[in-house]
Amino acid sequence: MTQHHEPGQEQEEVTGMVCQEDDLKDGEMKEVLVGDQKVLLVRTHGQYSAVGSRCSHYNAPLINGILVGDRVRCPYHGACFNVKTGDIEDYPGLDSLPSYKVKVDDGKVYVSINKKSLTMNKRVKEMCTMDADVKHTVLLIGGGPASLVCAETLRQNCYQGRIIMVTKDTLPPYDKPKMSKVMNVDSSSVLLRSSDFYQQHGIELWTKKEVVSVNPADKVVKLSDGVSQPYDQLLIATGCRARPLSCPGSDLQGVKILQSYNDAKDIYNACLGKKAVVVGTSFIGMEAASFLSDKASSVVMVGTSTYPFERSLGPEIGKMTMEMMEEKNVKFYMNDGVTEIKGENGTVKEVVLKSGTVLKADVVIAGIGNFLSQQLLDVLHCA
Ligand SMILES: Cc1cc2nc3c(=O)[nH]c(=O)nc-3n(C[C@H](O)[C@H](O)[C@H](O)COP(=O)(O)OP(=O)(O)OC[C@H]3O[C@@H](n4cnc5c(N)ncnc54)[C@H](O)[C@@H]3O)c2cc1C
Ligand code: FES
Repeated sequence: MTQHHEPGQEQEEVTGMVCQEDDLKDGEMKEVLVGDQKVLLVRTHGQYSAVGSRCSHYNAPLINGILVGDRVRCPYHGACFNVKTGDIEDYPGLDSLPSYKVKVDDGKVYVSINKKSLTMNKRVKEMCTMDADVKHTVLLIGGGPASLVCAETLRQNCYQGRIIMVTKDTLPPYDKPKMSKVMNVDSSSVLLRSSDFYQQHGIELWTKKEVVSVNPADKVVKLSDGVSQPYDQLLIATGCRARPLSCPGSDLQGVKILQSYNDAKDIYNACLGKKAVVVGTSFIGMEAASFLSDKASSVVMVGTSTYPFERSLGPEIGKMTMEMMEEKNVKFYMNDGVTEIKGENGTVKEVVLKSGTVLKADVVIAGIGNFLSQQLLDVLHCA
C-alpha cells in the first residue's frame, strides 16, 4: 500500500492506495491496510466501499463473514452491517462500523481515513436529545437488549420525549450470554452501555424496580415500591425466566438456576472446590459445566437424551462435545433424569436419578430451559 495526503487535507486524513480497480469483482471483499488500520474493502454493483474490518460485537474479522447484496454477516454470531454506510442492520451487536471514503482514480483504488478515527473500530449511530417540552413518555419494562435497543432506536429516529427503562435487575443492561461462559466476570466489563451513555441520550434507567401491574386503560404501571408511573406508550420486554427443577428437594439450599449476573456469581462462589451436578445438557448446562470443570472438585451432568445438544445440534456434534467435556473430567449420566434431591440440614447432599444412581452433590444447577415472563402480558390480555 502507498500512502499520501490529499492536498489541503494533510492534517485530517490518511489515504492509502489499496488495490487496482479490477482486483475485486462484484460481490467480493478484501481486507486492506490504511495506516495501521485494517479496512474491509468491498465491491458491489460495480462500486467500491470501505468500512471497519472488525465486528462491533466481539471483534470477529468480517472478511470471514458472508456478503449478500450490500450486507455483510458476521461469521461469529450473525450481526449484519451495511457495507455502504457501515450501519448495523441486525443484532446482536449494538454499534455500527466506521465507513471510509473511497476514490477510484486512473485504475487505482484509494481509501481515506480521518486521522481522528484511525483507531476507532465502532461507531454509535447518531441520536437526538430529549426535549423537555415534548410531553410524551415511552416506558420500557425490562433491562435486556430488547429494551435497550428500543430506547436507542427511538433516539436514532428523532423521538424527543421521555424514555424510562424500568428493570428489576441490579445492573444496567448487560451481556447476559456471558453469564454461562465466564461466571466470575467483573460487572463493569459486561455492561452494554456505560452509565454516561444513558445520561447523554436522556434515557432514564430505573434499576432494582419491578413492575407489578399494568393498567392499560389508564396507561399507568405500578412498581413494587408502590410508585405509579403513567406512560403514553409501553413496551413489555420482560424476556424469559429460567425453568426451575420441580422434583422433591428442589427448594433445598444449593439448588440454583442461572439467569442473571448475580446467579452466575453465586454459582461460581458456591462451586469452588465443591461437587457440582448440572441438570440439563443443552447450552446453559454445557457452558456452565465447561466453565466450572477446573473450579469445582467434580462436575457431573445429567441429561435426558443420549448426547448433549442432541435436539438442537444433532447427535454427531453432541457426541463430539461430550468427548471434549469428558477430557475435562466432566462425567455424564445420559438418558436419565432427576427424581429427587436429598439434603441435610436444609442443604443439598445427594441427587437421586431415575436409573437409581445416587450422585453426591454440594451444588445442583438446573439448565433445563426457560419460559416467557408473561405475567404482565397476561394482565394486558385480560384488560
Ligand atoms: C446464562 C444465559 C446465557 C445465554 N447465552 C446466550 C447465547 O450464548 N446466545 C444467545 O443468543 N442467547 C443467549 N442467552 C439468551 C439471551 O440472553 C436472551 O435471548 C436475551 O437476553 C433476551 O433479551 P430480552 O431483552 O428479550 O430479555 P432479557 O435479557 O431476559 O431481559 C428481560 C428484562 O426484563 C426484566 N424484567 C422482567 N420482569 C420484570 C418486571 N416485572 N419489572 C421490571 N423488570 C422486569 C428483567 O430483569 C430483565 O432485565 C442466554 C441467556 C442466559 C440467561
Ligand atoms: S462477533 Fe460479530 S456478531 Fe458477535
